[in-house]
Amino acid sequence: MIQVHTYESYEELSKHAAKIVSDQIRIKPDSVLGLATGSSPVGLYRELIRMHQEDGLDFANVTSFNLDEYLGLDPKHAQSYRTFMNQNLFNHINIEIAKTHVPSGIADDIAAMALSYEQAIRDAGGIDLQILGIGSDGHIAFNEPGSDLDSRTRVVDLEEQTISDNARFFESIDDVPRQAITMGVGTILEAREIILVANGEGKSAAVSDAVQGDVSTQCTASALQNHAKTTFILDKAAAAGLNI
Ligand code: GLP
Repeated sequence: MIQVHTYESYEELSKHAAKIVSDQIRIKPDSVLGLATGSSPVGLYRELIRMHQEDGLDFANVTSFNLDEYLGLDPKHAQSYRTFMNQNLFNHINIEIAKTHVPSGIADDIAAMALSYEQAIRDAGGIDLQILGIGSDGHIAFNEPGSDLDSRTRVVDLEEQTISDNARFFESIDDVPRQAITMGVGTILEAREIILVANGEGKSAAVSDAVQGDVSTQCTASALQNHAKTTFILDKAAAAGLNI
């Protein structure tokens, strides 16, 4: 059963999500966080930066694992998820960059890299708190419709919908990579706690399918119904399709 918290605005939902993350870090300073990219968590990251700068929230002992990366993009590429994380969070807090992990999109042996990424998560003790967004087709990380609900870290083909949704970050749609490496649904479900942030009417159908639809590979976020501690943190527009 997915818990749902709805807020008036994106600012409010971002603050609420940041409070959950900061409480986690204060209770366990060496927390392992699962981090997401995309527009949705940017407000949450902005609030965490403010909490670090103004309230002394300390990331010195935190370890992080990101969900995914575009295949073929160098970490230094302007549109890589590594660059996104550095710019939107890591460069502004006191996390040790060596403790931040983003899957490599350019490893010679991607399959071996995927296995070692999973092993690194286990070696760190597993993910305490996973932050997620949701794709307009109901995907989490890059687990597109059809992904097995027990899938692990692997290479995936992106759907046309996802390519066009993400084209806004690139100069042209032709520049959007067609493949990515992503944590699997099974990997994500092993996190002890999960929060998913979503805002805007473009997410309302995906959110209602995930929360109130059948658990199905057609909406991989619906697998979160089987997780013990998942909360969706929404604005009113993203919650509009829910019968609550
Ligand atoms: C990408 C990411 C997802 C993210 C989704 C939604 O596909 N791989 O992790 O949840 O985009 O992005 P946005 O928050 O920009 O709508």
